[in-house]
Amino acid sequence: MFINFWYAAAEAAKVTDQPQHVRMLGQEFVLFRDSKGKVHCLSNTCIHRGASLAHGKVKGDNIECPYHGWQFGGADGVCTKIPSLGKDGKIPARAKVDSYPTQEKYGLVFTFLGDLPEAERPPIIDIPEWDNPAWRVSLMTTLWRVNTLRGVENTLDPAHTEFVHPVMGFQGERDDYSVPQIELIERDWGTGTKTKFVTPGAAGTVKAEVRGGGFQTEAEAGHHGATTTYTWIQFSPVAWSRQYTFNTPVDAHHTQKFFLQARNFALDPSGDARMDVRTREVMDQDRVVMERVQPFFVPQSSTEEVIVPADRVIVRYREWQAQWQAKGWLMDVDALLAAGENKKFAIPSPARRSNKGWALDAVPMVGANSTARAAAE
Ligand code: FES
Ligand SMILES: [Fe+2]
Repeated sequence: MFINFWYAAAEAAKVTDQPQHVRMLGQEFVLFRDSKGKVHCLSNTCIHRGASLAHGKVKGDNIECPYHGWQFGGADGVCTKIPSLGKDGKIPARAKVDSYPTQEKYGLVFTFLGDLPEAERPPIIDIPEWDNPAWRVSLMTTLWRVNTLRGVENTLDPAHTEFVHPVMGFQGERDDYSVPQIELIERDWGTGTKTKFVTPGAAGTVKAEVRGGGFQTEAEAGHHGATTTYTWIQFSPVAWSRQYTFNTPVDAHHTQKFFLQARNFALDPSGDARMDVRTREVMDQDRVVMERVQPFFVPQSSTEEVIVPADRVIVRYREWQAQWQAKGWLMDVDALLAAGENKKFAIPSPARRSNKGWALDAVPMVGANSTARAAAE
């Protein structure tokens, strides 16, 4: 799991002045709206004696802990009130919790989980279809018991559709089936591939009939940063589906998917339900395979796999991860799990760059110079 990316935390409409508990990167957070409607995200563990802030109350622009009533500011996480000290009590400098930058975009609340200054943060992927009236965008959410990086590899994988998705392939039974040489499309924060493939398809939904039955379809899939993916599928010369998935690692074993699907046909919102049913069917086909992949995390040594040219984009994705690991952004999941119930960590927030004295230690990171491969967890 990587820090220093924007992660989708919740659907914006569901974040209110009632605090909401969210688990991301194996850590606990509280989300709430303040008196002006601004969304805040704080580390959930009260640094007094550990209560869950998400089970407290919003008081104006602060959140109040349910245990002894300490209050913390949404914008900076700094403690503003310790009732037991009385009105003029001096609040200790260490009385603060991490506060994370938030953004509302595409109907979602994004939280920046890391300590990079604003100018250096990898951006949220651009979805030009979002406010384009020629497109309809619908949202679907689902939770997978799959390691997020494994899941992203599945989306990138041009060789799985033939076998995993019956509407997109022939189970390898066509004589002329192979995965053509893969061309990589390099973008600022990730790599994609474009593939043309023949699908059984459904009449009227795909491009053109080809020799021997089936239809020629074109798709591009890629990743943006560690856990966002996009898949653009051309069903016909005029019908496109552009899918963007914000994969949030709940922990190293679970992925919360926020799946935005843009279509340039059947624009009426009443078409959403039908699209969702179809999409869920296809996603479940992936999920069934991915939940059983072993080892659960990507193996640390490439000698434990046999890689072929069709895996080229996966290899490239792992190279990106190695770069982010070299910057010190890869969490040490083994150390985190080993700490068990005796210790609570926090994802370092931007304020840790300038302020010292935090009650919770920052999550352990894989050393920037470690030789362990980035894709480990
Ligand atoms: S544990 Fe939160 S105020 Fe005491
Ligand atoms: Fe798939």
